Amino acid sequence: MPIHNAKFTSFGSYVPKKVITNFDLEKIVDTTDEWIRARTGMMERHYAEPEEAASDLAYIAAQRALEASPLKHRDIDMIIVGTVTGDHAFPSTACILQKKLGMKNIPCFDLSAGCTGFLYSVDVAKNFIENGTKHNILVVGVEILSKVTNFKDRSTCVLFGDGAGATIISRTERNDISRIIDSVMYADGSQSDLLYQPAGGSRMPASQETVEKNLHTIYMEGNRIFKNAIRSMYAAVDELLRRNKLEAKDIDWIVPHQANIRIIESLADKLHFPMNKVIVNIEKYANTSSATIPIALDEAIRDKKIRRGDLVILTSFGAGLTWGAILARF
Ligand code: ACO
Repeated sequence: MPIHNAKFTSFGSYVPKKVITNFDLEKIVDTTDEWIRARTGMMERHYAEPEEAASDLAYIAAQRALEASPLKHRDIDMIIVGTVTGDHAFPSTACILQKKLGMKNIPCFDLSAGCTGFLYSVDVAKNFIENGTKHNILVVGVEILSKVTNFKDRSTCVLFGDGAGATIISRTERNDISRIIDSVMYADGSQSDLLYQPAGGSRMPASQETVEKNLHTIYMEGNRIFKNAIRSMYAAVDELLRRNKLEAKDIDWIVPHQANIRIIESLADKLHFPMNKVIVNIEKYANTSSATIPIALDEAIRDKKIRRGDLVILTSFGAGLTWGAILARF
């Protein structure tokens, strides 16, 4: 039994202004709007400007989450940023964000779990709150995948967009109905080579050859990931439901990672869960990796779809391979 409960206090999000439609992509790679829409559900995505970095997007999302909460900057006692496209290999984007927000003397770190980065970060924050160590933790999922995209590879370059979503996870009273109830997180490193960025780390440092061969961009075996994604997210959600003696019909909303509308529909189908209770915004933003779930949550709360008291499941899948699910009463 944890000492305290943790809850989502508020959300904020930001996507860069530049919109890239499927028709724009038709001009640079051998693809069609029809293929992208039919195979992925995506219609447009947002790209950062050359001078914009992850911490710039994260800063705006974080400010919006703070403004939507009753908290002041000085109330935040930890920052966790889920990202694989941070400003630099080091220092962490969380430290750069701390500087921008003017927060002092708190621990800040990044967490790398691909598209599951936000859920992993929320899970870590939940534990710090529940064991009584922290009171209010700023968690951000941010990604600028357009800067690690190979625009010669049509099977990946149409899939990704840039964006940031932020939340504040806070300690809450025992009688507060809002709380993060349960979570499951998993990884299977034996499949790490299905989705990765080959160069730029200590395995293959940057060289003229790595740049010429486009090895600093995303490599993905989409087909093999596709089947894994449905199976793993289903297993994670099913485990959460069983452990909490719930059935799918007890859940008000599912907010899944937005990687492919066919993955989302297959997941809903396997769970016998109606699509009109699944939050989908993939048509507007495409796959923003660790930012998809907090952006979707922020929009769904502002649109008054998800309301206080609703029982919500978040689930994601990504590089690692990693996956997980979170059950929360909003
Ligand atoms: N435009 C036109 N044709 C295309 C395009 C494109 N953009 N991309 C691929 N094709 C073609 C292929 O060349 C292939 O042609 P062929 O039959 O002549 O060989 C055909 O379309 C089918 O290719 P598939 O790869 O089998 O297409 P699929 O239906 O599997 O869709 C996709 C590909 C969208 C990548 C899908 O597999 C997918 O969504 N995978 C999961 C991605 C994911 O969830 N990743 C994890 C999260 S991402 C992260 O962590 C950063």
